[in-house]
Amino acid sequence: MERLLQSNAYIKKQNIMSSEEMKNSDFHKFFVDELKDLYWAENAVLKELPKMQAAATSTDLKEGFAKHESETKLHIARLEQVFESLGEKAEGIKCDAMEGILKEGKSIIEDTSKDSMTRDAGLILAAQKVEHYEIATYGTLKVFAKHMGHEEAEKLLGETLDNEKATNASLTGLAEKFINEQAVAE
Ligand SMILES: [Fe+2]
Ligand SMILES: [Fe+2]
Repeated sequence: MERLLQSNAYIKKQNIMSSEEMKNSDFHKFFVDELKDLYWAENAVLKELPKMQAAATSTDLKEGFAKHESETKLHIARLEQVFESLGEKAEGIKCDAMEGILKEGKSIIEDTSKDSMTRDAGLILAAQKVEHYEIATYGTLKVFAKHMGHEEAEKLLGETLDNEKATNASLTGLAEKFINEQAVAE
């Protein structure tokens, strides 16, 4: 009984946490740091997309990268709105995971021949790794925002999450449509 009362008191304390207390909580700091990590990652992706576009062989894949470049600019702008809604500064913290994924993408370009479908197949693989990383991160951060009652952040993160999912689906579509078949024939 005493434990129950203690846990009720704990829940009550959480519910009446002031916005200042919330801002200083470890979880809030963790959430903001993860947003900064994602902000760095999105900016790194934005730098690489024109290179991936230039390296791609098929027009469809080139167009896909060009489209996602402008969408990525929107993702960055939305993250800036998220920081603003939280009263936090928009800044990046180096994301080792995204750096590694993009590095792998660069070596795929180096290891495949120019104008080959094998290169396109490799670029799709690299791009889907980027999208899956983004989907995992936006998905989790959206849930964090929801639980902390950051409605604006939840909405913005959800919008980008949907776009990352759609990009991943269109990359799968391209791979299934023709690129892998032609790569096998090479
Ligand atoms: Fe993105
Ligand atoms: Fe993306």
